[in-house]
Amino acid sequence: MKIEQADETGTPRRQGAAAAMPRHVAVIMDGNGRWATRRGLPRAVGHREGAKAVRRVVESARRRGIATLTLFAFSAENWRRPAAEVAALMSLFETFLVREARRCAENDILLRVIGRRNRLGAPLVRAIDAAEALTAGGTAMDLRIAVDYSGRDAILSAVALLPHGLPPTRQDLLAALGRARCGGAPDVDLLVRTGGEHRISDFLLWESAYAEVYFSDRLWPDVADSDLAEALSWFSGRQRRFGGLPSIPARSARSSGDSREEPVHAA
Ligand code: FPP
Repeated sequence: MKIEQADETGTPRRQGAAAAMPRHVAVIMDGNGRWATRRGLPRAVGHREGAKAVRRVVESARRRGIATLTLFAFSAENWRRPAAEVAALMSLFETFLVREARRCAENDILLRVIGRRNRLGAPLVRAIDAAEALTAGGTAMDLRIAVDYSGRDAILSAVALLPHGLPPTRQDLLAALGRARCGGAPDVDLLVRTGGEHRISDFLLWESAYAEVYFSDRLWPDVADSDLAEALSWFSGRQRRFGGLPSIPARSARSSGDSREEPVHAA
């Protein structure tokens, strides 16, 4: 296996050989509502069962050595759902953060919530702050939960933080995504969506530029360790080329010795 390139965070890209373990796995957790409806239960019960699946998948990812796991819990568009469902979800997030932060700290997991904060209720924001503070020392895995998140809005917020003057580089934008509390993580290697839909739904648009995308029909509350194992096994058979060809090593700004990468909008 040959390392030819690095992504914008400086994380090496392994190119031209079967991918091994993904460093960053991102998951669109879909299917809670259908899971509940099929059982004649309220949708909120599906979300509660979904929270149990979150715990299973976090444990599984930690055990399997995933460095970064990002979970899409609530999109910027999900505010359009009935008020009762939104309230149930917000209350679930709060309970989850209070309960799981300690567990994360015990397991050396750093927990962060990405997305907008200014539309969330004060108790939830307090729970987020407390969970982030409690787990700040975690080094084994970065767990990122996306709440009120939109990939497009994340890019817009980052652009607003960019310095005026020089055209921005990709690293500038990525750093700004981190400062905007909307990203800053390495590129997504494996993007998983459960629930049978084949959409990206405005999730981690910048970071997923070269993600391998895995769709599963499993409804989120049914997801178990074996599903993550299956996705990882599928990923390990993918050949990642990042736009190049397996036999032709890609030339990046970094490998060609340029000190400054091409601006996003090169003249
Ligand atoms: C999409 O499924 C799921 C959501 C909008 C909520 C995701 C929430 C969880 C997985 C549970 C709680 C999460 C945490 C982090 C504690 P859907 O409800 O749209 O399902 P449907 O497509 O079957 O209707």
